[in-house]
Amino acid sequence: MSKKSYNIALLPGDGTGPEVLREGIKALTAAASSYKFSVNFTSYDLGGERYLKTGETLPDSVIEEVKKTDSIFLGAIGHPDVKPGILEVGILLKMRFALDQYINLRPVKLYPGVETPLKDKGPADIDFVVVRENTGGIYTGVGGAVQVGTPHEIATQVMVYSRPVVERCIRYAYEYTRKRNRRKQLTLVHKTNVLTYAGDLWNRVFREVGNAHYPDIRQDYNHVDACNMWFVKSPEFYDVIVTENLFGDIITDLGAMIQGGLGIAAGGNINPEGVSMFEPMGGSAPKYTNQNSINPLAAICAAGMMLETLGESEAANAIDKAVSDTLASGKIKSLAAGKMGIGTTQVGDLVASKL
Ligand code: IPM
Ligand code: MN
Repeated sequence: MSKKSYNIALLPGDGTGPEVLREGIKALTAAASSYKFSVNFTSYDLGGERYLKTGETLPDSVIEEVKKTDSIFLGAIGHPDVKPGILEVGILLKMRFALDQYINLRPVKLYPGVETPLKDKGPADIDFVVVRENTGGIYTGVGGAVQVGTPHEIATQVMVYSRPVVERCIRYAYEYTRKRNRRKQLTLVHKTNVLTYAGDLWNRVFREVGNAHYPDIRQDYNHVDACNMWFVKSPEFYDVIVTENLFGDIITDLGAMIQGGLGIAAGGNINPEGVSMFEPMGGSAPKYTNQNSINPLAAICAAGMMLETLGESEAANAIDKAVSDTLASGKIKSLAAGKMGIGTTQVGDLVASKL
C-alpha cells in the first residue's frame, strides 16, 4: 500500500539542472493532487558552485539527511570551471555508494512523434529497459598505479564483483521483467568470451537464479559488443537487459540516442530497500542555462520513474501518458535544446495540464 505523503530531497545542481527540475516538480505536484497523495520538498545546494565556494562536494551531513527522505530528485551536476571527475566522483558516485543504490534503471522508449536516428524503426520497435548494476565492477575503485611518469608505468582498474552483488542485481532484473510483463525475456549482456572470471560469475548466477525461481522468464545472452550492434539493427529484439556497471554505462548512452536523445532519457539510481535517486540523463548543459530552451521531458520522465518506485503506479502511468500525448500533439518541434520551438516552462505546463 502506498504511503500518502512523501518527503523528497531536491538536488537542483548546476547549469540547466534547476530549470528542468522545476518542470519535474510541476509534474509531481500535479500528479499528487490528481492521485491524492502529497509531496514535500527540501532542497540541497550541491554542485559546482558550492564546490568552488567551499570546497565541499557531498557533505556527510547531507547524506544523513537524504537517507531519511523517501526519494531524491537530481537536476544535473557538472560545471565548466571544475576539473572533470571531482563532482562526478564526489557527488554522484558517492551518493550511489553511500545509499547503496545498486540498480541503475534506464528505460529506452521511443515515444510516438519522436524522431529516432534508426531508419525504419518506430515506437513499436524501441521499448526496452536496461538494468545496470550500479555500485560494483570497475566503479568500485580498486586498482592502482606504480612507476607513474616513467616509461614502465603500470596502472590497473579492476572489475570487482562478489556473488552477492551480482545476485541482488540479477534477482532485481528477473523480478522487473516479470512485473513488466511484456515479452518476459531477460538478456544478460557481458563479455564472457574474454572476461572468463567475472563473466562466468555473472553467467552462472544468471542461469541459476533464472532456472530456480523464474521459469516463466526466457533467458537470453549477448556479448556487449554485439549488443551495441543489435541496438542499432534490431532493437525490437529486447525486453529487459541486465548488465554489469561499465557495460551498462556504455550501452545506455547509445540507448538514449535511439530513443530520441538526452532530452527524453531518464534514469533511476535505485536501492529497492532504501532511498533512490532519479535524474534526467542529460548533463548541466551550461550554455543553455536560463535560456528557457532546455528540454525538461527527461526530468519529467524521471519524476514518473520516482512515483513508480514509490508505489504510485497510477500517477506514474499518468505522467508517462501525459508525456506521450504532449509529444504526439506535435507542439514540440524537436527534442534538442534550443530547437523545441517552445520554452522549457511551456513544455512543463503542457505536460502538467494533462495530469
Ligand atoms: C551515468 C554517468 C556517470 C557514470 C558519470 C557521470 C560518473 O555517465 O550516470 O551514466 O559513469 O555512471
Ligand atoms: Mn553514463
